[in-house]
Amino acid sequence: MGRLRDARAHTDALFSLIAPEALYDRAIPERHRLIFYLGHLEAFDWNLLGRGPFALDPHDASFDRLFAFGIDPTHGNLPSDRPADWPPQSVVRSYVEKCRRRLDDALHTRGSIRASTLGLADGTLLHVAIEHRLMHAETLAYLLHQLPYEKKRGIENAAPASVPPSSFAPKSVRIPSGTATLGQPRRNGDAISSHSAAAQFPFGWDNEFDETSVDVPEFAIDVYPVTNAQFLGFVRAGGYDQSTLWLPEDWRWKEECGLRHPFFWERSGNEWFWRGTFERIPLPADCPVYVSHAEASAYARWAGKSLPTEVQWHRAAYGTPQGPERLYPWGDAAPRPEFGNFDAAQWEPAPVGAHPAGASAFGVHDLLGNGWEWTRTPFGPLPGFEPFPFYPGYSADFFDGRHFVMKGGSARTAACFLRRPFRNWFQPRYPYVYATFRCVEA
Ligand code: AVJ
Ligand code: FE
Repeated sequence: MGRLRDARAHTDALFSLIAPEALYDRAIPERHRLIFYLGHLEAFDWNLLGRGPFALDPHDASFDRLFAFGIDPTHGNLPSDRPADWPPQSVVRSYVEKCRRRLDDALHTRGSIRASTLGLADGTLLHVAIEHRLMHAETLAYLLHQLPYEKKRGIENAAPASVPPSSFAPKSVRIPSGTATLGQPRRNGDAISSHSAAAQFPFGWDNEFDETSVDVPEFAIDVYPVTNAQFLGFVRAGGYDQSTLWLPEDWRWKEECGLRHPFFWERSGNEWFWRGTFERIPLPADCPVYVSHAEASAYARWAGKSLPTEVQWHRAAYGTPQGPERLYPWGDAAPRPEFGNFDAAQWEPAPVGAHPAGASAFGVHDLLGNGWEWTRTPFGPLPGFEPFPFYPGYSADFFDGRHFVMKGGSARTAACFLRRPFRNWFQPRYPYVYATFRCVEA
């Protein structure tokens, strides 16, 4: 309950950064207007818990439907609703309050009643509600990022952290062949295994099961994510003008949107700027570049390398020269600020190499936090996958070969998503997420 309260406080704080009239703006053309997300977070919890196990009567069935699901942003198929199509803010806010009040009452008074048969006993549904909200906290952050500055209320400490620049020099490291473990073991009812990993992961989404071990041949991986300065080299070398570096559909997309450089950058004459959440600043050279999968792949091809696969990324992050895998790159200790730029401690990326305490056993830096990392692995089920019966489309709707696995986490990623088995995914031509990349060579 405390975690649900904290998660609500987090998303409430994000909404309070938006100027009230801007709630009806669409910050990103492919996504819903901001007002949708205000209703969505509560409708989701209400539909999942209130209408689900607690079997409460709806207080607004039309809102339950209106706010039930977001849209998978597909380029070229933009939503066309108008602000006036959405209910007034005050009405949405009272729906929110009512959902919370009725749900909290039910959780307090009836939480244990039919719990065992309702998936509440092991907390699964509560975890789903909390983690869903925390994922949307990150979605909201990157939506807010694109809202014009005058529509946001400034906050303190918005600028990139004053972490001293590291003595970073681009290099790669060889990772010897070995095992990578994806996913987590399934807990079957009361037969909670003594497996240490099962005790380590209190919850997992459907796509995190079953645990799967994979043999990974030797490869070399970049020690740091690709920085803005490195990516500028690609831009200056004409990377955006060479169709042979791009997949045909990526090239078409780039041409259609007229993209000439990363979406987060702005050019003014010969000077480059970074469009931060709350201010525009000169391009921070040593921060990881945020780009789409399409741009990351083109850069990798230009460099004569490729993006890592999901298992290569795991091996570089969690493998050890001795053999046993770690729970986190730095060891088995829970995430702490010195290990990386995550958990919404700040808004913007930090210079690469600024968190040496978070490096993996093989000396790979910045794996968790500071930007999700693209892999070249299409998002798909692990062996033994079963969709959650109460949310069958959560992952399965995206097993379509058109989404790629992202690992790691960004500055705005909640600490719970830094667990080893967590898998994120996005489509390759979506430039808004806080996603960076590093390259591998065979
Ligand atoms: C797992 C982050 C890709 O934002 O599209 C939120 C999470 N799913 N509501 C997304 C999600 C439904 C999802 N990602
Ligand atoms: Fe959602």
